[in-house]
Amino acid sequence: MKRFLMGVLATLVVGVAIGAAVVYSGTFDVSADTPHSPLVHRLIETTRERAIERRAREVAAPANLADAERVRRGAGNYAAMCMECHLAPGQANSEIRMGLYPAPPDLARPASTPENIAARQFWIIKHGIKATGMPAWSKGGIEDEAIWDMVAFLQQMPALTPGQYLALVESSDGHSHGGITDMKDMHGESGGTPTAPPKARGHDNSDGHAH
Ligand code: HEC
Repeated sequence: MKRFLMGVLATLVVGVAIGAAVVYSGTFDVSADTPHSPLVHRLIETTRERAIERRAREVAAPANLADAERVRRGAGNYAAMCMECHLAPGQANSEIRMGLYPAPPDLARPASTPENIAARQFWIIKHGIKATGMPAWSKGGIEDEAIWDMVAFLQQMPALTPGQYLALVESSDGHSHGGITDMKDMHGESGGTPTAPPKARGHDNSDGHAH
């Protein structure tokens, strides 16, 4: 028994020493352009999925998620705050998305985890995910109702053509989620929503964004 305990202790000490060596030596690769090893990736992914699944169980989706008004309002906010990372119908990729690790999922495609999807999306949008590019939008002052509107829109987006997407965004109130009121300071002169086709947008100012 004593020998066994000594063995456990020795293993622990070696484990802590290896951990400290990894942390302090500076050899761990934190760059976003090299992926994690399969083991680390698996560990992080499982931790994330279990944590979200557990918390999303507590979230009750409103009954009127298919409501056209919700979808319309959600479209404008999605285009203003999310599209750059999560794409839109007809948009193949974006510069920021190509560089992010983990890559933001393409939300214009049907979700790969359809179970409890609305609650899951609500929880993730509200709280964000640590050490990824996904912000906690509640910290930016976005209210729960506006988050549900975006969730409502997300349920529809995979079925939209690029034209239908643009029409819906144009019909919405643009960027209008409550919370932060001075949109001019936050989002440029108009404070509105980018409505031009995704491909044409963002690259029309040759002196500005030109690489
Ligand atoms: C700066 C980039 C960025 C922006 C902007 C962003 N996200 Fe994300 N989002 C991410 C990343 C990265 C992930 C994946 C995190 C991970 O894999 O752990 C993610 C994950 C998600 C997921 C989970 C998808 C799934 O089922 O796994 C949802 C839903 C989501 N984001 C919605 C939104 C919405 C809605 C907005 C706008 C209000 C938004 N995101 C803005 C980067 C972003």
